[in-house]
This record gives sequence, structure tokens and C-alpha cells, in this order.
Amino acid sequence: MPSHKKICIIGLGYVGLPLAHAFSSKFEVVGFDINTTRVQELNNGFDRTLELTSDEVKQSLKNNMIFSTNLDDIKDCNVYIVTVPTPIDSSNRPDLTPLIKSSQMIGKVLKKDDIVIYESTVYPGVTEEVCVPQLEATSNMKFNTDFFCGYSPERINPGDKEHTVTKILKITAGSTPQIANVVDELYKTIITAGTHKASSIKVAEAAKVIENTQRDVNIALVNELALIFDTMNIDTNDVIEAAATKWNFIKLKPGLVGGHCIGVDPYYLTFKAEELGYKPNLILGARQINNGMGKYIAEKTIKLMIKKGKLVKDADILIMGLTFKENCPDIRNTKVVDIISELQEYGAKIDVYEPWIDEKDKDYYDYNFVENPFKNEKKYEAIIVAVGHDEFKSISEDEYTSIINGERLITDVKGIVP
Ligand SMILES: NC(=O)c1ccc[n+]([C@@H]2O[C@H](COP(=O)([O-])OP(=O)(O)OC[C@H]3O[C@@H](n4cnc5c(N)ncnc54)[C@H](O)[C@@H]3O)[C@@H](O)[C@H]2O)c1
Repeated sequence: MPSHKKICIIGLGYVGLPLAHAFSSKFEVVGFDINTTRVQELNNGFDRTLELTSDEVKQSLKNNMIFSTNLDDIKDCNVYIVTVPTPIDSSNRPDLTPLIKSSQMIGKVLKKDDIVIYESTVYPGVTEEVCVPQLEATSNMKFNTDFFCGYSPERINPGDKEHTVTKILKITAGSTPQIANVVDELYKTIITAGTHKASSIKVAEAAKVIENTQRDVNIALVNELALIFDTMNIDTNDVIEAAATKWNFIKLKPGLVGGHCIGVDPYYLTFKAEELGYKPNLILGARQINNGMGKYIAEKTIKLMIKKGKLVKDADILIMGLTFKENCPDIRNTKVVDIISELQEYGAKIDVYEPWIDEKDKDYYDYNFVENPFKNEKKYEAIIVAVGHDEFKSISEDEYTSIINGERLITDVKGIVP
């Protein structure tokens, strides 16, 4: 492996762009994506994921980095880092198409001694059993003789400006002990939090997928407890506050589990487990509980409306927040849509207030998006605060009361309403 490294980052999304930016401070970098609009926007200094500021995108460009959709621009790179999506299909099975396609594309430009590092979240075995055969077939070269691979999962949290890519300890792995060292040294140049060299690529792949699976299962437990305490008329948040006074209690709040990581990655693990003949009942049960929370929140709101003598059919209900989590514009796999569709089935009329997403993303939905409802005259029978955006936290009790028709009814999914 030559000491001079030219890095290509493939897939400039939430993971790829901040990584490309970080590497651009030390290396020549090409940011590659198949989405021409995305590349055009980045060349104009605009990151629609809001992970980088305009100044940061422009700094990357000044650092000799280019954003491109052109294969010719990545031909002379010698390290390829793949950060493409790893979604699931409608039957919750891993969809490896972006990984396969990007591997086939890299195969076309792969040269002797190049390294291909995968960062996308996968089940153990994907790098060596799915991606490597694609690289070998399209490059006509031999794995671990002519070219090498690495795996280094990303742990960023969209919207989190504290735990940014360079500040999170990074797991690294390589296809040979020597390449593991090269990969580890490469990341050490930008990751100030340090690295952990895993014993194999499969170990690194498994480590990432269990981080998110553990979180999913833990949240499912809290969600299940919330359903139980609800039948007992006990406030779950009060119970959690009390229990969390014990040093080893894991303090999580009940809520929706959406997005493309925690609600998706466990299915990668369960798919592989089932393929190998093991039925992962606990993990799948957790998924089922978390997937059911949107419907539960809607039903709970409807019950309260009925109790308070409010008609559900044609009732105006305000949904605050649509993104899958607070303080970010990411709407992928948001579970707020489950709340809305359930309410719509009962004939309610829904307004959505979501200050974080732009007009283009609103076009995906057939919803009535409203500007700040606290500045309008319209009154609602019920409000569901579905996402804990910071701007929602400063809304006062009086402001809520001013837009509610009759008796106050607010379903506070994130526990942020005064
Ligand atoms: N977003 C997160 O917070 C996060 C955190 C940790 C890990 N991950 C994992 O990282 C991976 C990427 O996630 P993301 O959120 O950055 O996805 P993303 O959808 O934001 O970005 C992926 C980018 O890859 C591009 N792309 C798709 N196919 C391509 C191809 N064949 N060639 C080149 N570019 C291609 C898309 O156009 C898109 O711009 C996933 O495996 C995800 O599970 C994501």
C-alpha cells in the first residue's frame, strides 16, 4: 500500500459527507454519489442533511476535495470508503442493492493494492461474503492478494452536534492483520477519540449491529412497561425517574423508534440468524412492540377525546413533529406517520407542524402542513407532540391552551410539554 493515499468516499449522506469533510483536512478526497442533485448542492456549499454548515462544505472544497458523480474522478484513488444506505424491503429483509451496486462500480476502477473499506451497517459476513465477490468479479483481481478490504462502522447520531464523527471512538478491522493496521492508522489520523481494532471484519460488523439492537430491545422494554403502567394508571416517567436513582438502571424513555438505524438494523441480524436456523424471539418481539407504538399513541388519544366528550370524526388534531427524531430533518422511516394514519382512519382531520423539514420533503406526504400554529387563530380538539424538537420545548402552557378547543388534551410523546 503506497504511503500516499487518495481517498474516495462513496455515498455522501448523513455518514459519508461528514467523513469526507474530516478526511479532507488530511488527504486528497473525492466525494462520490450517484445523486446528481446532491452533488450539485454540495458543490454549491449546501448540505440538506444539515450535518455540515455551508462554511464546512466550502472548507472541504478549499481543502482540495471534489464532489462528483463521474467515475473518471475516482479512478486514481487507492482507498475507497463505502457509506451507502442499507435499508430493508417491505418484508423487513435486508436490501443489499446499494452495497452490491457500489461494489460492482468500485470493481471497475480497482487497482493492485487498493483497499475498500465498508462503513454501512450490515449483518456479520456481508463484507466478505457479499461485497468481496462483486469486487473480484468486476475487477478480475483476487481478494487479499491483489486488493484488500476493511470494515469500520459509523456511530454518528444525526442532529447531534456534540458527538460528531471525529469525536466518537471508531471500531476498525481489516482483511489481513497488516491491512487491519493500515485501516486503523488511517482512521487514527482524523478520529481524535481514538480507535478500537477489532479482531476481524465479522466482529466489527457484529459489534455495530448489536449496538443498535441492544438499544432497540431496551427501548422496547420501556415501551412495554409504559403499556403496563398505563393499565395501572401509573405515570411511566415518574416510575423511570424513581428507578433511575439506582446506579445501574438504564434510563430510557418510552416512545417511537423510527429512522433507518435502530428500527432497521436489528432486522439485518434477525435475517441472518433465521437463515442459519436460529429464531431470535427477543429481538423480533422488541421490534414488534416498538412498531406498534404509533397505533397505540393514536388510540390512546382517541380514548381520551371520547372521555372528554370530544367528537373524533372531523376533529381537527395537530401533530407536532414528523421527523424520526428531534432536531434533525431526517424523515426516513418516521413512525409519526403511523399515528397520523390511525387517526385518519377514525375520520380526524390532521394538521402537521414540522419546522425542520423543507418544502421538497413535504411533497412526499399528502398531509396538511401548517406554519407555526401558535401564531394562527385555528383551534384543535387535541394536540400530539410527537417529536422533542428544541423549539417545541419553549412553548408555554398558555400557548398550548390558546389553540385548544374546549378541554385541554395534549398527548406528550416525549414528555416535553409544561
Ligand atoms: N445516518 C446515521 O445516523 C447513521 C449512523 C451510523 C450508521 N449509519 C449507516 O451508514 C450507512 C449510510 O447511511 P446514511 O444515513 O449516510 O445514508 P444516506 O441515505 O443519508 O446516504 C447515502 C448516500 O449514498 C448514495 N448512494 C446510494 N447508492 C449509491 C451508489 N451505488 N453509489 C454511490 N452512492 C450511492 C445516496 O445517493 C445517498 O446520498 C447505512 O448503512 C446506515 O445504516 C447511518
